[in-house]
Amino acid sequence: MKPPITVSVTGAAGQIGYALLFRIATGEIFGKDQPVRLRLIEIEPALPALLGVVMELDDSAFPLLNSIITTTDLDEGFTGASWALLVGSVPRKAGMERGDLLGINGKIFTSQGKAIARNAAKDVRVLVVGNPCNTNALIAMRNAAGVPEDRFFAMTRLDENRAKSQLASKAGVHASDVTNLCIWGNHSATQYPDFTNAKIEGKPVTEVIRDEEWLRGEFITTVQQRGAAIIKARGASSAASAANAALDTMKALISPTPDGDWHSVAVCSDGSYGIEPGLIASMPIRTKADGTWEVVQGLPIDAFSQEKIDATIAELKEEREAVKDLLS
Ligand code: NAD
Ligand code: LMR
Repeated sequence: MKPPITVSVTGAAGQIGYALLFRIATGEIFGKDQPVRLRLIEIEPALPALLGVVMELDDSAFPLLNSIITTTDLDEGFTGASWALLVGSVPRKAGMERGDLLGINGKIFTSQGKAIARNAAKDVRVLVVGNPCNTNALIAMRNAAGVPEDRFFAMTRLDENRAKSQLASKAGVHASDVTNLCIWGNHSATQYPDFTNAKIEGKPVTEVIRDEEWLRGEFITTVQQRGAAIIKARGASSAASAANAALDTMKALISPTPDGDWHSVAVCSDGSYGIEPGLIASMPIRTKADGTWEVVQGLPIDAFSQEKIDATIAELKEEREAVKDLLS
């Protein structure tokens, strides 16, 4: 057995937390020889519910679950964290855009960024799920002095999985047959699921799906609006699929990306593809054998794609402007 790894999770008593914690505790992410310490962070009113979750974790008798701490104190919560999963925040309701949450949720990420910088392990990686996740990640990063910028991520894997599922269904194949799917930009209604560089069973999507009108229209809007469609249907935002995507993101950032493929996650831009450096934007990412990542370079971007990418990056700049007082 390896020494335990510490995973801190905010909003651990919420919907996503409930779908996430048990799968982390099974060893699905870090392997069957890797014990896990959970540090579960909540706000005071949610502590009774969190204690119920802890009872259930205890009752699962997971062999790899080394210890569980529950706390409202951020310093205690992020102590020794190698992964900080920032889920805790308010979800949107029907009729809202995710960006409407900035005023409520943005400030949460200032103190969390600072506490991560003070307490987390040297190898900490921060995955922001709470919406609007790109700009919340920007706030956390800019408040976490001393933590390298390449450790901050915002989740667009759910969008990638949704896009793969839509393409697979149209082509009559399984979602696992769809590769090279990049979500560009913001986890919002402006995101761009890039079908022009994606592949189905190794062939360009546009050779397999001849319906260009569908690809440029309904496909994109379905992916962009999928979160809203789930809220309308369920009366609550996606949770199990969101937790699944968070786990997919962690796995994708831990394991080398298969040759020729890439995965989607929002990272701190280095200026690749003309995206302004410092914005947290989703782009095609490859994880290297040493566990670091790089932006896949040289993908052809046609005029249609460029227009879509420009629109989602413009929205990220607007969100950054709206929270400028929270950026150190
Ligand atoms: P939820 O309301 O069920 O749970 C949120 C939890 O966060 C609650 O238990 C609440 O007490 C806690 N919380 C609130 N403020 C906190 C703080 N300052 N510190 C610690 N905990 C805090 O919501 P949910 O369904 O679990 O969703 C959580 C967030 O994830 C929402 O913002 C939602 O929009 C977002 N989300 C993102 C994606 C994505 O793809 N990026 C997908 C689904 C949901
Ligand atoms: C999603 O994409 O399902 C989440 O971001 C929740 C939402 O508000 O749509």
